[in-house]
Amino acid sequence: MAKITPKEDGPLIVQGIPNLRTNVGAIEPDKPAYGLCRCGQSKNKPFCDGSHVAAGFKSGNGDAEIRNTPISYSGNVEGQQVTVSYTPVLCGHIAECQRLQLSVFDPSKKPWIKPENGSLEGIKSVVAACPSGALRIAVGDEVEHHVDSDDVSVSISKNGPYVVKNVELAAEFNGLGASEKEFILCRCGQSKNKPFCDGTHHDVNWQD
Ligand code: SF4
Ligand code: FES
Repeated sequence: MAKITPKEDGPLIVQGIPNLRTNVGAIEPDKPAYGLCRCGQSKNKPFCDGSHVAAGFKSGNGDAEIRNTPISYSGNVEGQQVTVSYTPVLCGHIAECQRLQLSVFDPSKKPWIKPENGSLEGIKSVVAACPSGALRIAVGDEVEHHVDSDDVSVSISKNGPYVVKNVELAAEFNGLGASEKEFILCRCGQSKNKPFCDGTHHDVNWQD
């Protein structure tokens, strides 16, 4: 079974992942179980090379304050009430939402999400494409929900987190409204919501 276990002050131990890939293609690890770097310091990324020890990496989050409350944005879309819910701490600032539907998801505007500027199909496709679980949708009386895929994979974003789909994680899920099926894990070592990415890599301009 595909599983990820975050090791205290160390790497992510992964087992049985059928698809490990970067934006340029698949990686074929030579072992069924191995460590993935999460301190941001390995010279052999994405694999752990033990650099976390010299770097003094700590996997705890101390007293860090996180923006953990979902914010809901509602509007009329094609005659129906559509609510998009967004949990800031889960967002990896990967900007799929802006790339796909800038008319609805525009951080330069207030509010930054305006469902009424989009189509139902378009908004659903953005919620499905959001890799972090930060976005959920409700149409009419529906309960807010994610739009998940069946893919089982770990993808490595350039200068960003691991994007995980349908792999068991041996950790508590922080972030109200988090998806246990699709989430992003910190690779830079600087998130305040480890093992999850909280977008800090973007704020500090972390590079692979
Ligand atoms: S993680 Fe989701 S909400 Fe955050 S920028 Fe990416 S697509 Fe948008
Ligand atoms: S990779 Fe996003 S906060 Fe570390």
